[in-house]
Amino acid sequence: MASVFNAFKLLFLLTSLSFFDLGSCGEPQKSLNILPPTCTRIECPKFDSVEVGNGYEIRRYSTALWMSTSPIQDISLVAATRTGFLQLFDYIQGKNDYNKTIEMTAPVITEVVPSDGPFCKSSFTVSFFVPEANQADPPPAEGLHAQKWNLTYAAVRQFSGFVTDSNVGEEAAALQASISGTKWASAIEKSHGNNSTYSTSVYTVAQYNSPFESDNRVNEIWLLFQIKDENIL
Ligand SMILES: *[C@@H]1O[C@H](CO)[C@@H](O)[C@H](O)[C@H]1NC(C)=O
Ligand SMILES: *[C@@H]1O[C@H](CO)[C@@H](O)[C@H](O)[C@H]1NC(C)=O
Ligand SMILES: *[C@@H]1O[C@H](CO)[C@@H](O)[C@H](O)[C@H]1NC(C)=O
Repeated sequence: MASVFNAFKLLFLLTSLSFFDLGSCGEPQKSLNILPPTCTRIECPKFDSVEVGNGYEIRRYSTALWMSTSPIQDISLVAATRTGFLQLFDYIQGKNDYNKTIEMTAPVITEVVPSDGPFCKSSFTVSFFVPEANQADPPPAEGLHAQKWNLTYAAVRQFSGFVTDSNVGEEAAALQASISGTKWASAIEKSHGNNSTYSTSVYTVAQYNSPFESDNRVNEIWLLFQIKDENIL
């Protein structure tokens, strides 16, 4: 198992060097809408599908526990995700207060808080889904913190291929466009309210595959929100 993890780690590094950066030209691809194949092999957070719309899916995640890095300032999502992933990778390999190894899960998610100005760095928080077996007592670790989700909704857009710094913004914009005018757009706006640090421009990138898998790759953009008024369902 260790060698698999090491291959994973190595290839994650390779990806960051853009060996596989093939997705930067062309239009955003059509949204997929499948259960990521990875989730038949390793544990993923459970959700209910609330609605499948044109170009989006609305999901309800009941509870989920994530182990998260501190915000990472960078101009590149790919670079920041690599930095965060390596920290989380050490964590699951036993670099934690209990010296405990933890099973790999999917997806690894990166929350993106875009910068205001053209030359500012964005802020990225990278998180690992804590397996159910470890949720009661996730090992603490320096530089990481646990985040427990209450009932959380997500507007989701899937896309295949590799996540790149150029395609991710296009996919996020395509998701925004596909929910525009729906009740979900206003629910998201309401949920985010006037909190400028959690404005509607914040999105999350979920990656389900290790970098050496080149076929059947599934990535997702998530717009996370809470619903105060359940009547809209
Ligand atoms: C974890 O490993 C370190 C280094 O081997 C050791 O000093 C420490 O006591 C261990 N902690 C636990 C909780 O086993
Ligand atoms: C989650 O739910 C608990 C209990 O209902 C509440 O105290 C807490 O504020 C909620 N957290 C968020 C982030 O909404
Ligand atoms: C946001 O701010 C505007 C004006 O400051 C106010 O009218 C509106 O009610 C606020 N919305 C929320 C969700 O707090």
